[in-house]
Amino acid sequence: MALSNTKTVTVHSIAFPKSWKLSALFVTLLFLGFIFTSFWIDTVNHPEPVVTVVLLVNHNTSSTQEPIHTVDPLHLNQNAPIHTAQTVVPPITCSSSGKPTPNPPPICPDYFRWIHEDLKPWKSTGITRHMVDRLARRTANFRLVILGGRAYVEKLKDSFQTRDVFTLWGVLQLLRRYPGRVPDLELMFDTFDWPVVKSKDYRRRSGKAGRRRGGPPPLFRYCGDESTLDIVFPDWSFWGWPEINIKPWEALKEELREGNERVNWWERVPYAYWKGNPAVAVTRQELLQCNVSEERDWNARIYAQDWISEVQQGFKQSNLASQCNHRYKIYIEGSAWSVSEKYILACDSPALVVTPRYYDFFTRGLMPGQHYWPIRDDNKCRSIKFAVDWGNTHQREAQNIGKAASSFIQEELKMDHVYDYILHLLTEYAKLQKFKPRKPRKAIEISVESMACHAKGLEKKFMMESMVNVSRDMGPCELPPPYAQVQLNSLLKRKTNFIKQVENWEQRAWDKQMS
Ligand SMILES: *[C@@H]1O[C@H](CO)[C@@H](O)[C@H](O)[C@H]1NC(C)=O
Ligand SMILES: *[C@@H]1O[C@H](CO)[C@@H](O)[C@H](O)[C@H]1NC(C)=O
Ligand SMILES: *[C@@H]1O[C@H](CO)[C@@H](O)[C@H](O)[C@H]1NC(C)=O
Repeated sequence: MALSNTKTVTVHSIAFPKSWKLSALFVTLLFLGFIFTSFWIDTVNHPEPVVTVVLLVNHNTSSTQEPIHTVDPLHLNQNAPIHTAQTVVPPITCSSSGKPTPNPPPICPDYFRWIHEDLKPWKSTGITRHMVDRLARRTANFRLVILGGRAYVEKLKDSFQTRDVFTLWGVLQLLRRYPGRVPDLELMFDTFDWPVVKSKDYRRRSGKAGRRRGGPPPLFRYCGDESTLDIVFPDWSFWGWPEINIKPWEALKEELREGNERVNWWERVPYAYWKGNPAVAVTRQELLQCNVSEERDWNARIYAQDWISEVQQGFKQSNLASQCNHRYKIYIEGSAWSVSEKYILACDSPALVVTPRYYDFFTRGLMPGQHYWPIRDDNKCRSIKFAVDWGNTHQREAQNIGKAASSFIQEELKMDHVYDYILHLLTEYAKLQKFKPRKPRKAIEISVESMACHAKGLEKKFMMESMVNVSRDMGPCELPPPYAQVQLNSLLKRKTNFIKQVENWEQRAWDKQMS
């Protein structure tokens, strides 16, 4: 199940559904040569915009007179029941003084606090038009403009597969879910793998040089790392990844839950499992050496995904929901962060996480020893062997780790929270804007109609499945406050201390074995 493996190839996404088997084969063959190169960014021709058809409907978001019962606007489902559960006015309780006070919203999960960290670089300066138009634009694939609850897109560069399509589809669903609540804004989005805004280039400098640079560009993308300032945003896979048959998260999460319940942890194979595409990263190739062989058993069962046959079979072999058959599951990054992490964490089997370099929007909420077990990158096999031996001799602790991760995925990462995260992120971002957002001449309005009517096959199916049908009158969960510096330091310290502790245990176990 290598989900990050094809990320570095460029294909024209819109041509895909028709001849997708062929294209995917082509991709498979192509990507081997393209890994680690990104020259295509500069060399691809500008294709036709992905979103071209515009059917305007009047979403008047400022009328709050009645809850919006949004029925399928495409009239594909006239018999579907109208959902009303979430359109009722929020319940009100009266305090003793007689003043009505609505129920306070629940607090969002802790990982939402990273929204403040991600936007910190602009806290004192604000976000200027120059930062967006001149700086962030350099690598962006599209500009997203939201005005009065409508979404406009200026396409700047082609994206790989349907990343941009499903990301924008997600934004449209946010607008349907929270009509009238998404602020006016303009932002640049880069759909490519790796973060690019290097923090060392934008250290606060006094004097002319600093001012001339104009502060860091606020650039949205799917992941970041320690040395960059890119703003992280949930990736497209939450709404679907048709090219490799990954369905929208809401439904997939449910299947994963059922798949997980099918096999009791005790009955699972007592080894660490990984399946994926080793070709995309050196570290994955190193992982292959930890596979069981005649001479050695590092407690790992490693499988390379056969892409050509998987493509031909529509990725049936990679059925995610039936991958909870081992007691431990290895997570290892591909070319950047991997979409697969949420699927791996969804089994009650503890995830053995090879020290990651990148983070996405939710992974900073995970704690080693609580949600996963850390694996050294520079000594993987030994580290995996120790982890499995430890788990098999500390079964209760191991199960607790597995359970903490699967409930994190099921509860804290449900779509409700994904939407709330985006809403809070965009709201906080918009507060920093020091300019008035406007629709650029080349921007095109997108709507669910324009996107879904244009789509075909699996793309269309996934759009229909992930479509938000009811607006939510209750607001989002409450954004927790920023971390105080001491809190942040102690959090990071707790992380590194646990990792160091495990490394000590590993070393001691190894020494004992050698003596
Ligand atoms: C939306 O509705 C409000 C109040 O009913 C009205 O004042 C406004 O002009 C409408 N806007 C659009 C774009 O139709
Ligand atoms: C790892 O070992 C197993 C068992 O021998 C084998 O079936 C599998 O193909 C091996 N994986 C790789 C990537 O060679
Ligand atoms: C919205 O309704 C359609 C059709 O009934 C359904 O397929 C889809 O899954 C629904 N969306 C969500 C998020 O449940």
